[in-house]
Amino acid sequence: MSNKPLNVGLVGGGKGAFIVHPHQKAIHFDGTRRVVAGALFPDPKIALEEAANWPYPIKGYGSYDEMIAANAALPAGQKLDYILIVTPNFVHYDPAMKAMKAGIAVFCEKPLCLNLKEADDLVKAARKLNVPFGLAHTYLGHWTSRLSRYIVRSGLLGDVRWVDSYYLQGWLATRLEATGQTQAVWRVDPKRAGGSGCGGDIGTHALMQLRYVTGLDVTQLSAQLETFVQGRQLDDHFTIYCQLSNGGKALVRASQICIGHKNDLGIEVAGTKGTLVWRQEEPESITILLPGQPDRVYWRGAVTPGDGFLPKDVPADLMAEPTIPPGHPEAFHDAFARLHRCFEADVRKWKEGKAFKCDGAKYANVEDGWMGIAFIETCLKSSQKKGAWTAMPKTI
Ligand SMILES: NC(=O)c1ccc[n+]([C@@H]2O[C@H](COP(=O)([O-])OP(=O)(O)OC[C@H]3O[C@@H](n4cnc5c(N)ncnc54)[C@H](O)[C@@H]3O)[C@@H](O)[C@H]2O)c1
Repeated sequence: MSNKPLNVGLVGGGKGAFIVHPHQKAIHFDGTRRVVAGALFPDPKIALEEAANWPYPIKGYGSYDEMIAANAALPAGQKLDYILIVTPNFVHYDPAMKAMKAGIAVFCEKPLCLNLKEADDLVKAARKLNVPFGLAHTYLGHWTSRLSRYIVRSGLLGDVRWVDSYYLQGWLATRLEATGQTQAVWRVDPKRAGGSGCGGDIGTHALMQLRYVTGLDVTQLSAQLETFVQGRQLDDHFTIYCQLSNGGKALVRASQICIGHKNDLGIEVAGTKGTLVWRQEEPESITILLPGQPDRVYWRGAVTPGDGFLPKDVPADLMAEPTIPPGHPEAFHDAFARLHRCFEADVRKWKEGKAFKCDGAKYANVEDGWMGIAFIETCLKSSQKKGAWTAMPKTI
């Protein structure tokens, strides 16, 4: 296997952009991936200036069309192995589709795209063209999310009865968009964000955390999409009561008007034998509540299988995922790095002509993205009918 770092091209990221930076740090985390090119801004002149001012040398392009077209003529070692799409939601579908058609793997920000028609197309294209496709649901990348998934899915908490999966923020509690704040402006615009503001932006993270940890899907839902800040077109408060595929129930909720809450994503899973509690703002530990016992706190890096709750045979690949010693805190950037590391493994297999999985176990995939969009569309339908119970579409 080649030890040459994978080449990554950025779509978006110029002029005060946010999420490109955690990503580009995570790409460089292991020395086995590097950013080599970028189409960083919609205006070609500014895109080239931004590339020239990037903190390390990259090849700048005036547009992602140019970057993708130029790739075909590059010598083998200089071609892009994957692109990272970090543009607003309305600029996900087009570069993703064009990259896949050009034989470039895609790591895309969430939500996958704007609507179910686009999501259908992307899933079909990724399957037909057999190209690795990852979706940046950051919080799956915490080691403690991996352990939570193992604990719940292996039945250690019994049958899942109830899940509370939430993401609370306060940064849009006022009309921040009226000040021109870059990240706020497009997030409240249906043409650029999609049919739901808060739900699409962070409700999809809460849904993904629920699905990743429990392995359950939402079958029906009753939704209330609300807008508390006057003059805003899209919801800033998103409350969804859900029926789960095993007969259990869940609340998937998100808000951007809860003053003081920063990135308060968390999940509680209540099973017939015990409850799991996890919060991303303190992502180094999971708490397990069992009847008649003191609470158990599991810290990343300090887990001992066979301790009376965890069995001896916790999967070796979970225990062996690279981490640093406990007590040296891991957080947001480490979670992103774990996603890129796992995506890299699939991209390398693909390049070598081997089977690759992209099965959602290590990072979210294009089908997970489809599910996020299906969820949002179903929530919109239900909310328009005052919260009427509405069935989710059949999985693609
Ligand atoms: N996974 C997470 O935790 C997380 C967190 C924040 C944002 N996001 C997602 O990441 C995406 C970007 O969000 P952000 O907050 O970084 O937005 P942002 O506004 O800070 O950055 C968007 C960037 O895309 C560029 N852009 C827009 N159109 C373009 C085009 N046609 N060609 C090239 N560049 C273009 C903008 O100039 C800007 O550089 C969104 O889809 C958002 O939902 C995910």
